[in-house]
Amino acid sequence: MAAAQDAASLRLEVGGDRLATLTFDAPGRRVNVFSRGVFEELERTIDELARRDNVGCLVLLSGKAGNFIAGADVEEIARVTDPIAAEAGSRLGHRLFSAWEALPFPTVAAIRGTCLGGGTEIALASTYRVVANAKEVRIGLPEVRLGILPGWGGSTRLPRRIGIAEALDLILTGKTVSARRAVKLGLADALLPDARFLDAVRDFALAHLDRRDREEARPDLKELLLERNPLGRRIVFDQARKKTLEQTRGQYPAPLRAIEVVRVGIEDGRQAGFDAEARAVAELATSRTAKNLLHVFRLTEEAKKEQGLPGGEPRPVAMVAVLGAGVMGGGIAQLVAAETGLPVRLKDVDETALASGMAHAGQLFDRALRRHRIERPEVKRRMSLLLPTLSYDGLERADLVIEAIVEKLAVKQQVFAEAAAHLPERAVLASNTSSLSIAAIGAATPHRERVVGMHFFNPVHRMPLVEVIAPEGADPAAVNTVFAFARKLGKTPILVRDAPGFLVNRLLMFYSTEALWLLDEGHRIEDLDRAMSDWGMPMGPMALTDEVGIDVAVKVAHILCEAFGDRLPLPAWMDRLSLAGRLGTKSGRGFYRYEGRERKDPDPAVYALLGLTPHIDHPDPAALADRMVLPMVNEAARCLAEKVVAGPGDLDLALILGTGFPPFRGGLCRWADSQGLPAIVATLERLEGAVAERFRPSDALRDYAARGGFYAGAAGA
Ligand code: NAI
Repeated sequence: MAAAQDAASLRLEVGGDRLATLTFDAPGRRVNVFSRGVFEELERTIDELARRDNVGCLVLLSGKAGNFIAGADVEEIARVTDPIAAEAGSRLGHRLFSAWEALPFPTVAAIRGTCLGGGTEIALASTYRVVANAKEVRIGLPEVRLGILPGWGGSTRLPRRIGIAEALDLILTGKTVSARRAVKLGLADALLPDARFLDAVRDFALAHLDRRDREEARPDLKELLLERNPLGRRIVFDQARKKTLEQTRGQYPAPLRAIEVVRVGIEDGRQAGFDAEARAVAELATSRTAKNLLHVFRLTEEAKKEQGLPGGEPRPVAMVAVLGAGVMGGGIAQLVAAETGLPVRLKDVDETALASGMAHAGQLFDRALRRHRIERPEVKRRMSLLLPTLSYDGLERADLVIEAIVEKLAVKQQVFAEAAAHLPERAVLASNTSSLSIAAIGAATPHRERVVGMHFFNPVHRMPLVEVIAPEGADPAAVNTVFAFARKLGKTPILVRDAPGFLVNRLLMFYSTEALWLLDEGHRIEDLDRAMSDWGMPMGPMALTDEVGIDVAVKVAHILCEAFGDRLPLPAWMDRLSLAGRLGTKSGRGFYRYEGRERKDPDPAVYALLGLTPHIDHPDPAALADRMVLPMVNEAARCLAEKVVAGPGDLDLALILGTGFPPFRGGLCRWADSQGLPAIVATLERLEGAVAERFRPSDALRDYAARGGFYAGAAGA
């Protein structure tokens, strides 16, 4: 490893035609990152280049397929705890990229693949940027997603290149743009054919030998009117601030800070912008939020390396069948066609359901079309891969069946047995059940070792998690087939044991049931939701239950209550809502009133229906959050002790990807560790005495507290 780090990452070649190329190819890495060592090399290379008189143009290339430069070395950012060192790191980048910018000949950043963070920043410091016309090209400044901001000149250079509003849009969201979009924005100067990229780059560079007369980006009329006058600029910055506050509820300091840094760079000049960047990096990079977000980033990277169970290669999947064309089945079928291009049979027992499942898939493709994620002819081709059917015909060629029919054990058992009779020997049968035992579903199926859980989250196209459930005795090859296929669908698979509620729904049930108990005590729907949204959840527990469907939530609650007994008691009035036809968003009435799918006010009729009188005014939001979050922590300890998931890292990532648990808190276990488990045990004991027995700290939690935390000694600590 040390040898790999010592080996050169940058290779300079100068041709007789005065064209120089600098190829970045970090040895032993999948992508290029700017580590300390690479910066030292870059500094030496720039010194050497500055002294040469035989260069008329320099091209910066990457030696990695699919990647130009991925940015800074996140491990170095994760390690920095001293604000002075963090500031020095930012200033070093400024110095190097300014020296790059000042080279006495034009430079061309030739981008083919992902170009992120520091990669985009050196590209911005280059005289020209050219991009390959390829899907792999994604350009952006994702630093805010790690709790920091572009601190090597990007916050200052980007708005000068593409205008303030467009720059803020990229910097504040961390989103990436395609090659075509980059050209349209003025971020890139030329779109070059991917098939002859290197030749085209060479032609471009030769045509620009010695030309340093690059025009500044030409602003459009709107930009002239708005951004070039102080009043207009103020509007742009004010709007960005307002929108950011709305979206982050003040929980993420980096984007707000970035707005200020961009403003300083525009109004007080480049050097002031660089200084503001460096000061902001000093603070942000050493903050707890950044460390938590970096932790989540690492968990995500580690999850990409997971293969599933040991002892079985995933089988190839060339044809898929989805059983059940409802909310989930329609979404899953569309996802398979969209992401893999494989033929999919979509089977239901009801013609109307089948039609609406196909319509749902069509809407999802339309949406992708509107967002320029796919082109029209491709939509047609992919839609034609979906074959709606009422029979099992064609199943004899399926390699993988994904079942998403009604949540009834007997029906699922029967359907699995029926399907198995039509399937080839090798086929894997996966169930998307939310709460039933996978072993029980497969009990009546011959070759039950090939029955696996593949639990998607709603809405399928948006939620990045798939819980892959391996029941006792499962064939590792079958489990790994599902694991690998989930990844092909662009999801993050996490291996989970076949235990009630698996992982995410189990934890979530302790949270949302506690919200019902708080309602029972006299709290208001909106106070509970506000407390949790402000805490960072994407929506509060009552709104979430409406989204999931009150009928579905109640059904799962009963199943888990049966499994967990006294630990998860349910309010006696729980069934009244769904019995009264109040099913949540889908029925237009739940804890809230709805117009279409749009959530309006909480519905006061709910209290009357449940026999409750809300009477608690101005509750303490922190106390409410404790009431709802700590039962999840208590149960998380049990899940880990029972080996429902491999470790706290998997648990944290699953909850973030499956429920939107706030990433800035680093995950449930990491957050609990930061509070101190002994303090959490003490709060639970207090609640046990003051509220109810269900809060009693689990033995597992006491064990983790005694050991120094969930992550004490765990990988990824
Ligand atoms: P849904 O009620 O929207 O759809 C179920 C579909 O299955 C209906 O179209 C029905 O006609 C069809 N069906 C019934 N019997 C069938 C049979 N024998 N063969 C083929 N099709 C049959 O239900 P939804 O919400 O899509 O849920 C399906 C499964 O996914 C359930 O197991 C549920 O627990 C699970 N799930 C649901 C989530 C949600 O948020 N709705 C999230 C994750 C999992």
